[in-house]
Amino acid sequence: MSGFLDGKTIVIMGVANKRSIAWGCTQAILEQGANVILTYQNDRIKKSLQRFVPETAELIECDVSEDDNIKQTFEKIGQKHGKIDGVIHAIAYADKETLTSGLVNTTRDGYDLAQNISAYSLIAVSRYAQPILNNPGSILTLTYFGSTRAIPNYNMMGVAKAALESSVRYLASDLGESGVRVNAISAGAVKTLAVTGIKHHSELLKESESRTVDQKSVTTSEIGNVAAFLMSDLSTGMTGDVVYVDKGVHLI
Ligand SMILES: NC(=O)c1ccc[n+]([C@@H]2O[C@H](COP(=O)([O-])OP(=O)(O)OC[C@H]3O[C@@H](n4cnc5c(N)ncnc54)[C@H](O)[C@@H]3O)[C@@H](O)[C@H]2O)c1
Repeated sequence: MSGFLDGKTIVIMGVANKRSIAWGCTQAILEQGANVILTYQNDRIKKSLQRFVPETAELIECDVSEDDNIKQTFEKIGQKHGKIDGVIHAIAYADKETLTSGLVNTTRDGYDLAQNISAYSLIAVSRYAQPILNNPGSILTLTYFGSTRAIPNYNMMGVAKAALESSVRYLASDLGESGVRVNAISAGAVKTLAVTGIKHHSELLKESESRTVDQKSVTTSEIGNVAAFLMSDLSTGMTGDVVYVDKGVHLI
């Protein structure tokens, strides 16, 4: 198929199932003609992916809690494919107790785990992906506006997203000279596995939908289309940016 990502190879980290934002990104990117390599967290998720991912998409295990896993993943990709053109990081995690307690009750371990998986992993992914990224190349992560507002029940994840967004700016500055840009999409609330960990998530989703400009939640396909643009050479002028794809929720 021909599209604005023809001939590009994009690594997408974080598809768990068909509801995942990363799956919306994968579909949009495939539609624009790129090859995709999907990384998954563990065997359980691999089994889920094998049920719906096209055979042409390569699957590689990568649990981002260990730097060695990330290093080996990008070495393996480099050996097999040579250079790549982009990486999408759509990964976040906090344990249930941390997510459901107010920030004031967050333990040191809970804080470390959430920051480690949700924010630090972008730094390690950028470090190990850089040697195999083309110039121009693109790294994209997913954030939420609980980073700049105290959204009820978003708790520790808001703090991790603030660190993630700041990392986007510093990484963009570090990698600029090698032609790699780093951006984030701040997505509106969509019902995914990650969201169901948030206390009273149905209310969060309802409230968010009611605050869109047309009372219809953003879809993973709409988020995916912006991700495809950010992976493409149409966006070489953008780096260090947080782009809202939330149907206007952040305006109000
Ligand atoms: N759903 C929303 O409303 C929303 C809004 C804004 C931003 N986001 C962000 O989008 C991203 C994707 O989340 P989603 O909503 O699609 O949910 P999801 O549950 O489908 O995806 C989260 C992914 O993180 C992966 N992951 C967690 N720990 C990992 C680890 N140690 N190693 C490797 N992978 C790991 C999971 O396997 C899963 O694939 C997250 O960063 C999330 O915070 C989501």
